[in-house]
Amino acid sequence: MKILFIGDIFGSPGRKIVNDHLRHVAATHQVDLIIANAENAAGGFGLTPAIADELFDLGCDVLTTGNHVWDKREIMDYLSSGNGNPGSRPARVLRPANYSAGVPGTGLYEGRTKAGQAYAVINMQGRVFMHNADDPFRMIDELLQKVTSKVILLDFHAEATSEKIAMGWYLDGRVTAVLGTHTHVPTADTRVLPQGTAYQTDVGMTGPYDGVIGVQKEQIIHRFLTGLPGRFEAAKGDPRFCGVVIECNPETGKASAIQRIMLGE
Ligand SMILES: [Fe+2]
Repeated sequence: MKILFIGDIFGSPGRKIVNDHLRHVAATHQVDLIIANAENAAGGFGLTPAIADELFDLGCDVLTTGNHVWDKREIMDYLSSGNGNPGSRPARVLRPANYSAGVPGTGLYEGRTKAGQAYAVINMQGRVFMHNADDPFRMIDELLQKVTSKVILLDFHAEATSEKIAMGWYLDGRVTAVLGTHTHVPTADTRVLPQGTAYQTDVGMTGPYDGVIGVQKEQIIHRFLTGLPGRFEAAKGDPRFCGVVIECNPETGKASAIQRIMLGE
């Protein structure tokens, strides 16, 4: 079984490069399942229902998010509408599972591929240098007790490399893949851990690299030079498609390979 995970899709440059590359990447690697982090897909900040639909129409099966999930308020009703509608598009958009109880949406989705292979996707947020969230380590233990699928992917949306690497080792042999998002810079530590968990600290941004993690570089430099507030707008140049393809055994959930992808225009 092959799974494509696409790193943080940033703004319209990110959506355009997904549109340009997704079909041929999926066909070349014969992927059975496509997951994308879409928390920055709407202008760099948040996700709207219309953009979620656009990404589903392009072939994504599950969308994950992170700390920017509430930036576009309309996503709250959309996520709530997924409750009680298993398999619906809103049920296939995740927010971090370790958010406060009672907020819209869910951080776990279990489904089946077109070929009938069961899989689970979990979205979790880190706690180091980030806003408050519940303990992701204990929360994942609780969630894994509920999951029935053998193939399990975790999008660990976190800032600190140490927290992400620790999560990879913590889950080695218990999930198919631990994939980091949020920092938008792809790391060169792609590997399968000894017990069969595919791992990469950050999958990298699918968006404009002629900027500072997606934002226009002049605005970020101005902020560093002055400390003054100002608008942040999505950069435009040098869009790249960043992702990983994971190969795993659907019977055991163990990963056998993980390959990093970066494609330009
Ligand atoms: Fe983020």
